[in-house]
Amino acid sequence: MQTLLVTGGAGFIGADFVLQARKTQWANIVNLDKLTYASNLQNLAELRGDPNYYFVQGDIGNPELVRYLLEHYQPDAIINFAAESHVDRSIFSPQDFIQTNIVGTFQLLEASRLYWQKLSSQKQKQFRFLHVSTDEVYGSLSSTDTPFREDTPYAPNSPYAASKAGADHLVRAYHHTYGLPTLTTNCSNNYGPRQFPEKLIPLTILNALDGKPLPIYGDGQNVRDWLYVADHCDALYLVLRQGQIGETYNIGGQNEQTNLAVVEKICAILDELVPQSGLRRSSLIAFIKDRPGHDRRYAIDCSKINRDLDWQPRENFDSGLVKTVQWYLSNSVWIDQVRSRAYRNWLKHNYEDRKA
Ligand code: NAD
Ligand code: TYD
Repeated sequence: MQTLLVTGGAGFIGADFVLQARKTQWANIVNLDKLTYASNLQNLAELRGDPNYYFVQGDIGNPELVRYLLEHYQPDAIINFAAESHVDRSIFSPQDFIQTNIVGTFQLLEASRLYWQKLSSQKQKQFRFLHVSTDEVYGSLSSTDTPFREDTPYAPNSPYAASKAGADHLVRAYHHTYGLPTLTTNCSNNYGPRQFPEKLIPLTILNALDGKPLPIYGDGQNVRDWLYVADHCDALYLVLRQGQIGETYNIGGQNEQTNLAVVEKICAILDELVPQSGLRRSSLIAFIKDRPGHDRRYAIDCSKINRDLDWQPRENFDSGLVKTVQWYLSNSVWIDQVRSRAYRNWLKHNYEDRKA
């Protein structure tokens, strides 16, 4: 079985990938994660005692540590999930985004290149560096624009998107210049179990359960393309196994929704699963001051991965959203843990003084 070095595997998508990889015996996993506020080792609790899963706390930007891990575990591939991932935080404090997403990815690439260059030619051919990126690098679409393709020019608008774009360019350069066998994926918004409740869907679920306002930026008509996290991880595994070296693949849910529609759907699901007499959750919706530079619409053309790797999403949005809500309803211990003082401070910081 292959060994994969996964970075950021204690976060939302990385953890889903690691759990799937161990459950289906895709690979042995070495998980390097800095354990920032967005991570949660509870996400991986079921792997306790698994002899083919190793966790290491550390930074992708630490070249000595990464070099040690590569030499010690001799992975067949690296999947880079590690990132600062929240647009609103990138607006308040971009520094961490530059450090991890650009400098960290550079350090990881450089350590990978040095490791890869010393491998036998057979192993060099098999090695892969898969970089997990976002559709936000392409910028914003109007309602009539065609969806993002792999050859859509980059036009990032937030510090988060710009830092991911910078990382994508470095990955491209390491393939072009040194021949490092890289793959890049650009995916749309993910949702599902274990997402930190600073992002729209889990924030809405938790606030609605508490009877708190459901904050919607601007007019609520911004559009995102939502993909269930397990579908994203399936696509990543396919790209890793069968993707063409040096290529990029767009991954999306073919599921464009306005933010208002998403929040209303969550309200309807909660009203049905946990009715509260006299309360319709949609009455909690509160339109608040818009995010600066808020991208209007993202949409993904995923015909390339569909055609070349025969991938398409399996989950539909309505059933995926019900599963997601049910996961939060059944995991109150997880929720209590993430509602730390730091989390409450973030809510204050982002939402106080933001009345429409
Ligand atoms: P997340 O914020 O939930 O998790 C990120 C993880 O990376 C955390 O466990 C954190 O501790 C770790 N990390 C951060 N800095 C690190 C560092 N310097 N060294 C090692 N580990 C570090 O993010 P996510 O939503 O799981 O996203 C994973 C990746 O997928 C990111 O690269 C993100 O840009 C990309 N992506 C996310 C989405 C989405 O909708 N969430 C969509 C497309 C692409
Ligand atoms: P988010 O989950 O932060 O993902 P991204 O910014 O990467 O797309 O936000 C999804 C959409 O929801 C985005 O258009 C911003 C909007 N949004 C709100 O309206 N209210 C909120 O409280 C949050 C967190 C997001």
